[in-house]
Amino acid sequence: MSPSDDLAHQATAAPEHTDAFWMPFTANRQFKKTPRLLASAEGMYYRSTDGREILDGTGGLWCCNAGHARPRIVKAIQEQAVTLDFAPTFQMGHPLPFVLAERLKAIAPEGLDHVFFTNSGSESVDTALKIALAYHRARGEGQRTRLIGREKGYHGVGFGGIAVGGMVNNRKFFGPMLPGVDHLRHTLDIARNGFNRGLPKHGIELAEDLERLVQLHDASTIAAVIVEPISGSAGVVLPPEGYLKRLREICDKHGILLIFDEVITGFGRVGKAFAAQRFGVTPDLITTAKGLTNGAVPMGAVFASGRIHDAFMHGPEGAIELFHGYTYSGHPLACAAALATLDTYQEENLFEKAIELGGYWEDAIHALKGLPNVIDIRNFGLIGAVELAAREGAPGSRGYDAFQRAFHEQNLMVRCTGDVLALSPPLILQKEHIDRIFDRLAATIRATA
Ligand SMILES: Cc1ncc(COP(=O)(O)O)c(C=O)c1O
Repeated sequence: MSPSDDLAHQATAAPEHTDAFWMPFTANRQFKKTPRLLASAEGMYYRSTDGREILDGTGGLWCCNAGHARPRIVKAIQEQAVTLDFAPTFQMGHPLPFVLAERLKAIAPEGLDHVFFTNSGSESVDTALKIALAYHRARGEGQRTRLIGREKGYHGVGFGGIAVGGMVNNRKFFGPMLPGVDHLRHTLDIARNGFNRGLPKHGIELAEDLERLVQLHDASTIAAVIVEPISGSAGVVLPPEGYLKRLREICDKHGILLIFDEVITGFGRVGKAFAAQRFGVTPDLITTAKGLTNGAVPMGAVFASGRIHDAFMHGPEGAIELFHGYTYSGHPLACAAALATLDTYQEENLFEKAIELGGYWEDAIHALKGLPNVIDIRNFGLIGAVELAAREGAPGSRGYDAFQRAFHEQNLMVRCTGDVLALSPPLILQKEHIDRIFDRLAATIRATA
């Protein structure tokens, strides 16, 4: 076997040994007893190493918005790899990140004119938090150091991200994290909003929680608030109607920057390029990753307003304005993948898909109401969540059982977080895929006691 045949074989067959790879966010010992291994993918489907076709209900991990193995993206990566494999972007450059930043600016909410490249959502979040702190300092308000996140928030796994994040298991093992962080209350309220279609009707008043924190800490100490417009990782938590707009107003009143973490909502998930546009609320900074390259090459991007960017552009021209960046910021392969991804989204009008199909999706997911143990259903755009009742004394176990049953018995990939089954399919899906996803999910839920 030639070395490349050998690699192709290794990439598609179950590995002989599974011990050395310490898997992320995984119950390693449990997984390695019954692995779930994907060998290839095309369009709406994965193929597992045991040869089954698995319907992708989660766009990989909320990233493959254009589906899998899209020809333009594949070709762009291949061609870029032979043209320029790597070039630094510290005091050097290559053309593609400049081209890409202009393309991104064109689809971003108005005023978010500048783009800082990272390699992941976590790095985007830490970058945005650092920009927020340095921005206030650059304009003589360096005492604004406090960062505000929200309960149930997920902002990746950097120390900044877990500090402003609000998922207990992601925080409790890692010491004191960043000092000077506080949290808004979360907006999940099943008692009042259970089985609601679209945005929750109740809960706009939760935005006033920011006023409570301003009263406690004083606005002059607060740099920024970071929230996900819709949070995915905590089990799809939606913003109540009017909530984000109110948060924006309170931030404006107190000179606090508003950061939207759009790592999952960016690039068409909710019917516009960004949730900010769908909700008509423009933040000062947006963090992205995932759908930026359709998941094909790791890349993230932070969008910053002209006001923020320009605050740094003072002092001697030879001075570095922001002491921050990554070796792979604007990596050629990632830029090529992102440009081809944007072309694919545009050619196929994929950003509109979540609006076109949103009603059908909503009807299909809400038809699961009444199945055993279903205690809530939430949806917006092409996002969905089915929450199952927790088993007595074993929270998360019913969700996990359903997740693995879906994979092994129904050839359906969903995501489970606690007892919530979350869905975020590629935006190329058709009505027949929606039918198939929910038929299989219904069978899974019925079979999961
Ligand atoms: C809202 C949000 N922010 C940040 C991240 C972290 O992204 P990454 O895993 O690329 O670091 C995620 C990942 O799911 C996310 O959902």
